[in-house]
Amino acid sequence: MITDHSTADGHLTHVIHPLVQHKLTLMRQTATSTAVFRQLLREISQLLAYEVTRNLPLTTERIDTPIQPMDAPVLDGKKLALVSILRAGNGLLDGILELIPSARVGFVGLYRDEETLKPVQYYFKVPQSLEDRMVIAVDPMLATGNSSVAAIDLLKQAGATNIRFLCLLAAPEGVARMKDAHPDVPIITAAVDEKLNDHGYIVPGLGDAGDRMFGTK
Ligand code: URA
Repeated sequence: MITDHSTADGHLTHVIHPLVQHKLTLMRQTATSTAVFRQLLREISQLLAYEVTRNLPLTTERIDTPIQPMDAPVLDGKKLALVSILRAGNGLLDGILELIPSARVGFVGLYRDEETLKPVQYYFKVPQSLEDRMVIAVDPMLATGNSSVAAIDLLKQAGATNIRFLCLLAAPEGVARMKDAHPDVPIITAAVDEKLNDHGYIVPGLGDAGDRMFGTK
């Protein structure tokens, strides 16, 4: 029996909430339609966002309730920044923005150079003052880790010092690569699968997340 808890080893938090796990199982299935896949990703993104924002700093604000004034908790500090790693990251973005509507949003676009196999940047647009914000980078699939590491490199070059990486599925290879390159960036994921195949897909995984959410091939 799988119990309802999250496990964390300091670098990786594995969210084993029953709703997350149930929805992920539906998403993995080949028979799940594009529309349902997208909706499930949106729902899971909100459950994962709950976990990734667990330690956001709070302060208090004096407010009036209908009964009496009180010092009530509110989020402290600058608005956080959500950064989508294109294109699949956009599938996680909307759900999280529903929960944190005041978040600032950035985008990182990378493609893989077929000769060098290295990620090459084609788009980079992020909110100002990244150094003062918590930055949550989102990409559903942490596979080889190459693009995630490159995206985090770019965010750090842009000034970010407090970064978290949120994904749906991770491969052990990607987790190890991230831990090696960015030990200061915690990873939050719904599952760590078995391995990568020869094409860099996560096994058993769910296929190409971008294709499944956008109905492309
Ligand atoms: N990207 C995907 O969309 N799926 C994988 O399995 C690996 C990378």
